[in-house]
Amino acid sequence: MTTASARLVIDLDLPGPRISRHLYGHFAEHLGRCIYGGFWVGEESEIPNVRGIRLDVVEALRELRIPNLRWPGGCFADEYHWRDGIGPRDQRPRMVNTNWGDVVEDNSFGTHEFMELCELLGADPYVNGNVGSGAVREMSEWVEYLTRGGESPMASLRRANGRDEPWRVPFWGIGNEAWGCGGNMRAEAYADLARQYATFLRDHGDNRLYRVAAGASDDDYRWTETMMKSVGCVGCGDGPKDIFQGLSFHYYTIPGPWEDKGDATRFTLDDYYATMVKARHVEELIRGHAAVMDVYDPAKTIGLVLDEWGTWWNVEEGTNPGFLYQQNTLRDALVASVHFDAFHRHADRLTMANIAQTVNVLQAMILTDADSGALVLTPSYHVFRMNVGHHDAASLRVHVDAPSWVRPVAAGNLDLVSASASTRSSADGDTALVSISNLDAERALPVLLDLRGRVVSGARARILTADSIDAHNTAAAPDAVVVRDHPVLFEPGPFGTELRVDLPPHSYVTVELDMT
Ligand code: AHR
Repeated sequence: MTTASARLVIDLDLPGPRISRHLYGHFAEHLGRCIYGGFWVGEESEIPNVRGIRLDVVEALRELRIPNLRWPGGCFADEYHWRDGIGPRDQRPRMVNTNWGDVVEDNSFGTHEFMELCELLGADPYVNGNVGSGAVREMSEWVEYLTRGGESPMASLRRANGRDEPWRVPFWGIGNEAWGCGGNMRAEAYADLARQYATFLRDHGDNRLYRVAAGASDDDYRWTETMMKSVGCVGCGDGPKDIFQGLSFHYYTIPGPWEDKGDATRFTLDDYYATMVKARHVEELIRGHAAVMDVYDPAKTIGLVLDEWGTWWNVEEGTNPGFLYQQNTLRDALVASVHFDAFHRHADRLTMANIAQTVNVLQAMILTDADSGALVLTPSYHVFRMNVGHHDAASLRVHVDAPSWVRPVAAGNLDLVSASASTRSSADGDTALVSISNLDAERALPVLLDLRGRVVSGARARILTADSIDAHNTAAAPDAVVVRDHPVLFEPGPFGTELRVDLPPHSYVTVELDMT
């Protein structure tokens, strides 16, 4: 392999589909210390809070402009009964969280607390209802409780609990992983149930629900096909969007076997590259599910929703195995950047995605120390922050010309350069944002940005990297992996402006361009 540059060719004047901000969605489950100890500390806590919700967590997350927050699960959603989580907290029934650690759930964080959290974050609520152990009436009444104004039994109950006005709830999940913890169903059985449940998930007043049917795991394209068949017809023009508007699938980056997924911070170079192969695989899965959906819904009226994604490692030593608490290194950050590149490329079908999970669980943005309460921002957090400029921008095609930046690995060839771009217009002028990941753990990558179609008048680059790929932030060293400014040089090129930016090994760079 030589160390020749990679050339990225971008036609700045040819905007493509809009990258929905909802591709940057989040997921908060009643699992381990995500809700309790993460978001929720209770009103009596010494940790500064707004009516029980942790203030520093909210402040840090506001920087990410979280567009939507999925709750209460995950697997937990299919054993959650929402009426247990309303009314005076000291009178709420307790339950056992059998999915996650068999711990007692006191329901102190319920519907009102979640809606307040969304308001504080500025995020749209994405509520996941209970199909597995719930009932149609239960789910239907939850929607009514949340979204109905005027007089109705559930609106009155909400008022009795202190909330007069209905909330706006745009996103609704019809169960979770129905093929597994959500009820171990066959696709055919769930498809019928989804139709039934969706019928009673009403649009109250001007609230319009985007109903998301529980979808496939990984490459289970048959599940997707069964769901699409159940609502659609081949070539039916406007599309079969009346039953559900989104169809989900889940994909986790797990390079090892399920029984031993590998350590979050101690890994070999081979482990690292195997992880990158798994991360890049998400694109094949998006393409596969999208191709099936195209057959039944050529007009793309139903969105593909990847409402759980991220790395899944062995839990940190000494922590509850059911709490899924893991550290987060630069490797996780690159998993995120690679996913976002794929998301941007498939923005025509992929309408929403949710990282699992926001705080203290799996590929978290924030870790809170169980003893001291200290808050740590993870490398993954920084990628989400660096990418805010892609939210709702128009995608741009990036042609990556990097023939020598391919690494043979056990599973095939790994492309070591990942990139995507978007553009937007505002009162301050037109800009573009280019994301570039150098997945090579050992070699620096010189990149030439061959920018065509517009005059580029300014450029600023930022970089996320560290000396080693296993670098991570802790309460003792919170800034081991942080974002810094990075040099970018203008050079005249044969077709317009060329920018030169050098990426150190295992780094993620964004370049913001001003265009005239
Ligand atoms: O995110 C953790 C769990 O992973 C979720 O509860 C479940 O949906 C998935 O299997």
